[in-house]
Amino acid sequence: MNPKSKNTLNHLAIIMDGNGRWAKERKMKRTEGHKEGVKVVREITKWCATNGIKFLSLYAFSTENWTRPKIEVDFLMKLLEQHLKNESKTYDEYDIRFKVIGDTMGFSKKLRNLITSLENSSAKNSTLTQILALNYGSRDEIARAILKMNKNGIPNGISKNDMINLLENSLDTKEIPDVDLLIRTGGEMRLSNFLLYQCAYAELSFSKTLFPDFNIEELKKIIENFKQRNRRFGAI
Ligand code: IPE
Ligand code: IPE
Ligand code: MG
Repeated sequence: MNPKSKNTLNHLAIIMDGNGRWAKERKMKRTEGHKEGVKVVREITKWCATNGIKFLSLYAFSTENWTRPKIEVDFLMKLLEQHLKNESKTYDEYDIRFKVIGDTMGFSKKLRNLITSLENSSAKNSTLTQILALNYGSRDEIARAILKMNKNGIPNGISKNDMINLLENSLDTKEIPDVDLLIRTGGEMRLSNFLLYQCAYAELSFSKTLFPDFNIEELKKIIENFKQRNRRFGAI
């Protein structure tokens, strides 16, 4: 691998944090922060589709976010529903494939149908794959993968490398390459159960900017910095 290709940004992942605090600072309801966040999602997605990034993973709702007040959870579900209903033309216009990771069985039948419908209608688009993490947690994902493997049967005496392949093919991110760069906005420096396995060699970037204030200018600066890094992958 030449040094340049190690710094190719193929898969960008973002923990979109700080919506609630953004709203609180403005004496608005937390839900207003989420609404504003959706606008940033649209901008970032279009930018990625037009700037050579192949995979964009966005953490939208964690397995732990169900512990929030019902009114906030309901609002987030409504926002998701609106997005799935209204944005399908953008996916075709920008040649974006839509994919969900996470346990969608946790959602209403109506939402599940909307998710499947957009996944199917955009399945042939290939410039960018936008991966939305919904009811997603790495521990949940790994547990579901092991259950799946157990159900399908694990070959006796399987080698360690074949086991790694089998596990990776049982994860929600099957056929999606590892994360190259993970950005978390909102000032916290933690992963909060997001793509723990897939970020084994990801470069990390933490921004103090609250997600609704995050913009393309800052994204470009972070990517510039990423390109300067020396990714060693355990070698020297
Ligand atoms: C991230 O923003 C969006 C979701 C988790 C859905 P938050 O809602 O966590 O915002 P803060 O961290 O409370 O400011
Ligand atoms: C992570 O943010 C989850 C999403 C962005 C969807 P949280 O706000 O839920 O994470 P913690 O609670 O600060 O770790
Ligand atoms: Mg938060």
